[in-house]
Amino acid sequence: MTRILGIETSCDETAAAVVDDGVHVRSNVVASQFDLHAKYGGVVPEIASRAHIERLDAVVREALSAAGCGRDEVEAVAVTCAPGLVGSLLIGVTGAKTLAWAWGKPLVGVHHIEAHALSPALGAEFPPWPAAALIASGGHTSLYHVRDPDQIELLGATTDDAAGEAFDKVATILGLPYPGGPQIDRLARQGDPKRYDFPRTWLGRDSLDFSFSGIKTAVMYEVHGHGRTSGGLERLSPQDLADLAASFQEAVVEVLVRKTLLAAERIGVRSVVTGGGVAANSRLRQAMQEACQSRGYAFRPAPMPYCIDNAAMIAAVGYYKLRRGELAGLDLDARPH
Ligand code: KG4
Ligand code: ZN
Repeated sequence: MTRILGIETSCDETAAAVVDDGVHVRSNVVASQFDLHAKYGGVVPEIASRAHIERLDAVVREALSAAGCGRDEVEAVAVTCAPGLVGSLLIGVTGAKTLAWAWGKPLVGVHHIEAHALSPALGAEFPPWPAAALIASGGHTSLYHVRDPDQIELLGATTDDAAGEAFDKVATILGLPYPGGPQIDRLARQGDPKRYDFPRTWLGRDSLDFSFSGIKTAVMYEVHGHGRTSGGLERLSPQDLADLAASFQEAVVEVLVRKTLLAAERIGVRSVVTGGGVAANSRLRQAMQEACQSRGYAFRPAPMPYCIDNAAMIAAVGYYKLRRGELAGLDLDARPH
């Protein structure tokens, strides 16, 4: 059994987790900074870095104690080193280096999106690989061919906004608080998804790339009037807002589902997985489940706690990289892009 301590601080979540053999989660501690950034309508990098400094030590201690394990049982320390906010990444990387050095353990640098791609396997009874993986978060929307945890190939990605970014921006247009994804998810349950016909951007029939900037503009014009960016919100009833949220969500979900199934068909796999913050969306989970079922694909969404940013997925990638001998030195750097 190989036990890894994972550390994640790439954006606004300070997280640490202990995971055995890349699958069995012994502890998963996430200190969200959501309250610190909400009043600014988005993540403020300086505030995020400072909060990581203040919380990282306690979060790591809690992860170890919740797992009932001491430092001697940890085989390696894995940390997100890319991509993300550079100041935030540096806190995690520096903390992980310090622990690895002080404990005399190997250090592993992990790519955050690769970790989201493996997150559907956390806690799974059977590995879902090979699979087509849709990873949709606030910063990324990508399709991968995960042959196995050691072979991950990019198939397509967004050419402009990420899906989560579109959710957050449309939430702002609708006057909802940050982060907007969960707000739209909730509001859309009371809305009519067919009332507004928002554009689905396909980028060509066979494309596995995404574009979500057009739909954001379409929602803005629907709310404020064509070519306008303000002044229209007051005219809308609560039902209008719910219908706008539901129609927007339906358009995004339709694109995400159709392209993911296209990817699965193209690479010839029978399994579909989803990860990233947007994979927490209840309509996406339902629509992907239905589409997979009707075509005979197995569907494994990342369990809810592993959709949003967490360190269990970092420890999982850390396990496979340790096994491959891909270790980092104490010169490991944070790479924001
Ligand atoms: O993966 P994540 O926690 O952080 C990044 O790596 O970006 O994803 C955060 C994103 C935000 O844009 C948030 O609005 C979105 O995921 N999100 C959702 C839902 N929960 C979080 N989007 C749609 N529906 C949700 N239920
Ligand atoms: Zn993420």
